[in-house]
Amino acid sequence: MALSMQDTLTLNNGVKMPCEGFGLFSMTDEDIFISSLEAAVDAGYRLFDTAAQYGNEHLLGDFLKDSGLERSEYFITSKVQNRDQGYEKTLKAFDTSLKALQLDYLDLYLVHWPLKDPFFETWKAMEHLYSEGFVRAIGVSNFESHHLDRLLSRANFVPAVEQLETHPHFSNHVMRDYLKSLGMVHQAWGPLGRGADLDDPVICDIAEKHGKSPAQIILRWHRQHGVAIIPKSQTLSRIRDNADIYDFMLTPVEMKKIDLQNKGERFGQAPDAVYVKD
Ligand SMILES: NC(=O)c1ccc[n+]([C@@H]2O[C@H](COP(=O)([O-])OP(=O)(O)OC[C@H]3O[C@@H](n4cnc5c(N)ncnc54)[C@H](OP(=O)(O)O)[C@@H]3O)[C@@H](O)[C@H]2O)c1
Repeated sequence: MALSMQDTLTLNNGVKMPCEGFGLFSMTDEDIFISSLEAAVDAGYRLFDTAAQYGNEHLLGDFLKDSGLERSEYFITSKVQNRDQGYEKTLKAFDTSLKALQLDYLDLYLVHWPLKDPFFETWKAMEHLYSEGFVRAIGVSNFESHHLDRLLSRANFVPAVEQLETHPHFSNHVMRDYLKSLGMVHQAWGPLGRGADLDDPVICDIAEKHGKSPAQIILRWHRQHGVAIIPKSQTLSRIRDNADIYDFMLTPVEMKKIDLQNKGERFGQAPDAVYVKD
């Protein structure tokens, strides 16, 4: 399977989204942010994944303004945080994000977590932003299948993307199949298990055979499953390594071996706990 850093997935509305992007969670130190983003652009990343909750949309906005990149060259994702959910509040939160990012439009806007209430009002605002052309695609994050089913019972637009915790020890393969059946793109957050899956002996063994790092093996596994990825790193050599996964292939047996490492162990919050609590 030939894959390249510049590969895109076509979303359910025809918009093309890079298969691999750069995650920006917890990156709030300005100097580290700039050096990491410079390395990421050099390595070929063009999708940048931020969120109101990460507190760095303004840093990304400043970086993009000075980057010399044309607006059409990069793809920006942000997310509405829980405290801003609801119809009017989501519209306002989007406007705040757009201003911080110093952009006229976003490429992808996600509902960060499912909340039981408000639920439909938030999605109605997302649909409004999409219909008015302020965002090229809308989606969700951390929705289990029953949250999606509830959303779809009243949605006018099927979410284009779902961003979900996904890594070898939490493969989320049932959701992967469900999203595929709905024509939605599955984008993995925490694709490296936030570092925790890198010591897995099966993955380390496969890495040694290919002369690659465990992180590269994991990212390649996601891509061969058709899952989009947004690894985060603020270490320059790792940023380059995470983009250098396109010159080898895992065999079907190696893919299966990694599949079998699933332990159903998430490190993030359980979506249902957030759904009823917030
Ligand atoms: N939608 C959501 O609810 C949600 C939740 C969490 C995250 N996200 C998004 O998903 C992105 C990625 O997830 P994540 O940041 O949680 O976790 P991740 O990408 O799985 O892991 C990041 C961690 O792995 C380390 N790392 C990265 N590349 C490595 C390599 N080649 N070798 C060894 N260690 C490596 C990083 O360390 P260094 O930085 O020190 O190199 C960092 O500690 C986030 O940045 C964010 O954009 C979304």
